[in-house]
Amino acid sequence: KLVTVLNGPNLNLLGQRQPEIYGTATLADVEAGCAEVAAQYGLRSELLQSNHEGVLVDMIQTCRETSAGIIINPAAYSHTSVAILDALNTFDGPVLEVHISNIHHRESFRHHSYVTQRADSAIIGMGVEGYYLCMHRLGSLLGG
Ligand code: DQA
Repeated sequence: KLVTVLNGPNLNLLGQRQPEIYGTATLADVEAGCAEVAAQYGLRSELLQSNHEGVLVDMIQTCRETSAGIIINPAAYSHTSVAILDALNTFDGPVLEVHISNIHHRESFRHHSYVTQRADSAIIGMGVEGYYLCMHRLGSLLGG
């Protein structure tokens, strides 16, 4: 079974972008770490990133055919995108939301996420470790 790890805008710059907030691990590091955890449960993992809302919607629609579960960091679109929420509502499998930083300790516009409405669970403020914890959770839900 495949798990898709979806990442929204500016996360391509992870590791270089505001490292005091997001840390120094890169998205390539996250990809490798997710694959390692997935393998422990007999799952496969793919990591995708886009800076474009419609592309993320397309990626989620593709997951309907390809993926058993989704881990998503919608980045800034968390706070704005009904389209991404609607796309996730067409997906039947588990959806786990991750935010690297603690969005509740930041500006008030980051406190609300549309995606939380659909997410089965969310991990916030654990750095990139949040992705790996989400993958462990999908391992117990889907692996075996
Ligand atoms: C983020 C938090 C968002 O508010 C921000 O726009 C991001 C990253 C996080 O992982 O902490 O780009 O989703």
